[in-house]
Amino acid sequence: MKTSDSIPVKYRKDYKPSAYLIHETKLDFDLFDDHSIVTARLKLQANPNADPSDSLVLDGEELKLLEIFINGQKLESAQYETDSEQLTVWLDKVHNLNYQQNSFELMTKVRIYPNTNTSLEGLYLSNGKFCTQCEAEGFRKITYYSDRPDVMSIFTVRIEAAQQKYPHLLSNGNQTEHGKLANGRHYAIWHDPFRKPSYLFALCAGNYDLLEDHFKTQSGRKIKLEIYVDKGKLEQCHHAMASLKKAMAWDEEVFGLEYDLDIYMVVAVGDFNMGAMENKGLNIFNTKYVLAHSDTATDQDFEDVEAVIAHEYFHNWTGNRVTCRDWFQLSLKEGLTVFRDQQFTADQTDHAVKRIEDVKVIRSHQFAEDAGPMAHPIRPDSYIEMNNFYTVTVYNKGAEIIRMYHTLLGAGGFRHGMDLYFERHDGQAVTCEDFVCAMEDANEYDLKQFRRWYSQAGTPELTVTSEYDELHRKLTLHVKQTCPDTPGQSNKQPFHIPLKLGLLDKEGKDLPLQLAANPEQLTGDILHITQLEQSFEFTEIAQQPVLSLLRNFSAPVRLHYDYNDHELAFLFAHDSDPFNQWEAGQRLFARVIWQLCAEQEAGEVMQFPLHLVNAVQNLLSSESLDGRFKALALTLPDIKALIEEVERVNLDHLIVAHNFLKKELACQLEMDWLVHYQANHHVGKFQQDKTSIAQRAFAGVCLSYLVALEKPKAYELAVSQLLNSNNMTDAETGLKLLMHSNYEDKQQLADDFYQKWQNEDLVVNKWFMSQATDPSDPTIERVETLIEHPAFDLKNPNKVRAVVGAFAGANLAQFHRKDGQGYVFLAEQIKRLYSVNPQTAARLTGAFNRWKKFDDERQRLMCEQLQGILQLPDLSKDVYEIASKALG
Ligand code: ARG
Ligand code: ZN
Repeated sequence: MKTSDSIPVKYRKDYKPSAYLIHETKLDFDLFDDHSIVTARLKLQANPNADPSDSLVLDGEELKLLEIFINGQKLESAQYETDSEQLTVWLDKVHNLNYQQNSFELMTKVRIYPNTNTSLEGLYLSNGKFCTQCEAEGFRKITYYSDRPDVMSIFTVRIEAAQQKYPHLLSNGNQTEHGKLANGRHYAIWHDPFRKPSYLFALCAGNYDLLEDHFKTQSGRKIKLEIYVDKGKLEQCHHAMASLKKAMAWDEEVFGLEYDLDIYMVVAVGDFNMGAMENKGLNIFNTKYVLAHSDTATDQDFEDVEAVIAHEYFHNWTGNRVTCRDWFQLSLKEGLTVFRDQQFTADQTDHAVKRIEDVKVIRSHQFAEDAGPMAHPIRPDSYIEMNNFYTVTVYNKGAEIIRMYHTLLGAGGFRHGMDLYFERHDGQAVTCEDFVCAMEDANEYDLKQFRRWYSQAGTPELTVTSEYDELHRKLTLHVKQTCPDTPGQSNKQPFHIPLKLGLLDKEGKDLPLQLAANPEQLTGDILHITQLEQSFEFTEIAQQPVLSLLRNFSAPVRLHYDYNDHELAFLFAHDSDPFNQWEAGQRLFARVIWQLCAEQEAGEVMQFPLHLVNAVQNLLSSESLDGRFKALALTLPDIKALIEEVERVNLDHLIVAHNFLKKELACQLEMDWLVHYQANHHVGKFQQDKTSIAQRAFAGVCLSYLVALEKPKAYELAVSQLLNSNNMTDAETGLKLLMHSNYEDKQQLADDFYQKWQNEDLVVNKWFMSQATDPSDPTIERVETLIEHPAFDLKNPNKVRAVVGAFAGANLAQFHRKDGQGYVFLAEQIKRLYSVNPQTAARLTGAFNRWKKFDDERQRLMCEQLQGILQLPDLSKDVYEIASKALG
């Protein structure tokens, strides 16, 4: 068993610049099916900004050192040492080496085994093709190097491999040379003119299908665009290509940022731990975020592909041209780039819909992380395994923090800050503090207090009360802020919270906002919350208004305000802020759900509140609202988000209440659901314009209510949608609804679906997922058989996520079975996986993180599994960190 003292913790406060810099990096890859030889020639120099050192220490893991030379001198065993993590060269023992003054060349030759590398980190062979994943610390599995983002170097890479099997040899930058060799081998040489850290290195070698196109930049340069995919997938690449061109144009238009190399390549691979990776000029993607055709991908998949293509492209400036000094600064590039991709998607689709979707992620996942054992600030202070910190906090809460600058400074002020950030830091590895300074200086805006968003973890809570004084026509708001303690942090200091608000008159119109005193506390419709307790007096308020608070979710906080049903229904019908309109509906639903839980608790019969019918009916028949908005507004609050609203949850009651409400709404409005379903569901020619996408989303939600009726007629509609659709959006909706229902022939439908799609991996994953998330009872047995299915592969993270991840993360009823079998199943999968793929195993382990929310018996059962995991022999530090902190 790993103990806490055998596992090193890294701290942000310990940062020291690297003792040696690497000006040039020349890599030689000799690729073979069963091993590879990597020769590195590094031009090193003592770092004038670091403490001098007589030893050169380089990172290296799972490398077999074959040769080592300095300035052409072969080193003897007394001059260096290797262990499982490092190479140390005693430079003072190397003859005639003036290592403090002059630069020198280190040459190492190592052997590695990409064919047995199942961690999908470093260089690995997957599906007959070589590829790399180096972020965060994977480059050290390729060669000995100073594998840290503040060591930046010019890379030249030579790749050699068998020509027939690996006709494409790719790396970063531009190809400068290629040619044929003896024995059927060939080579290519790539040179990247931009200095970069090792985590942005990439290599791909294989036999791909290639889609080619180009983009003309605003300054008139012609950029070659290339997408490499598995043979036969070419017709699924056009959407990714179109998305790339849109992203390139958008970044020029909105941020004035132009692409810098002459070629931009994207390679799609089936075995990938994450979504994608922004390697300079050579992005590597999970196939899930490249391939999209309407036969096999849903409207949501199309949107996701567009967003991830854009995200990786945007990293070229926010991440690559300006990179991170150390990994504690990860949100510097990720929070910023997520914000940029969110804005891009909003511009391509619908701002309100996109905002709601993003906030749902925050509420269901980030709030949970912030309240659990892994809570960390967006700029963490410590970690055991960096890969565990690619989190919703660093990414999505990080993006919320960036969004708040945009809210506080306006689009123009934000742009000025960005311009100054690039002007100051292009070509550098910097910190979050440097970003704050750029925003501050460009706008002469004091962000001293705002900086606490980087250092304090936990979700702040705002409690608001109000009084209306009719005589003096004034409204007083009292606002209190608190932030719960999180591991290692207590007594938080107040945050600077932009609270966007509106006061609605009887007609639902916004009243003008004006403060009686301290006008600097209000900018437009943004109230600046800066203290633990504050009161604000609004004047000239002629009638008692309805409050619309935290419009557009202007800060990542929980808001408490004692709305009554009437006010919520009013906001649901009238709020001009579409986010809060949606929010009011969700609050209405949530109140009902909690009320239904209370009734069960008291042993009473559950009562359906009829006032909901009206509100829902109005929304359904609204002519002005978009179909996607309607779909979101008609979807009941996510159970995961609801769990985060309470201290401890009675999960059984919550699920019963949720189902009861869904079924009641289905019954009460049966005719409406049917009418709207029929009006929005089309079987004719497939179209993918905004209107058609919106109609499919709306029709899908209508169908979900119909299926909740559990009537043969409704099942028939779903079956017909599944079998007769000409697109995956409709097919998947039908499949999912049926798999989660009690429809008696569902197994037959599942089998037929598999028969039809067995050669499309991404569709097979949908098939896996729809079954793994079936909340009904024999699912645990079903899931046991799914992992034995020939299409399942423990080595493929997409498959693991589709079955095990979906079961543990999105099937609350079955994962949290009272008999604990769900927990046992998950722990067993973690046991099978932790040495195969530590990163993916650690992600799965996170499903236990919220154990404290549940009843005593479930808590006991979850802890038992966590303890078992901690007893595993040679436990990876990835899983160790998650499991030990969970029990913490
Ligand atoms: N930088 C990549 C992205 O956000 C993610 C890489 C994550 N890799 C990892 N091993 N955790 O686009
Ligand atoms: Zn990213």
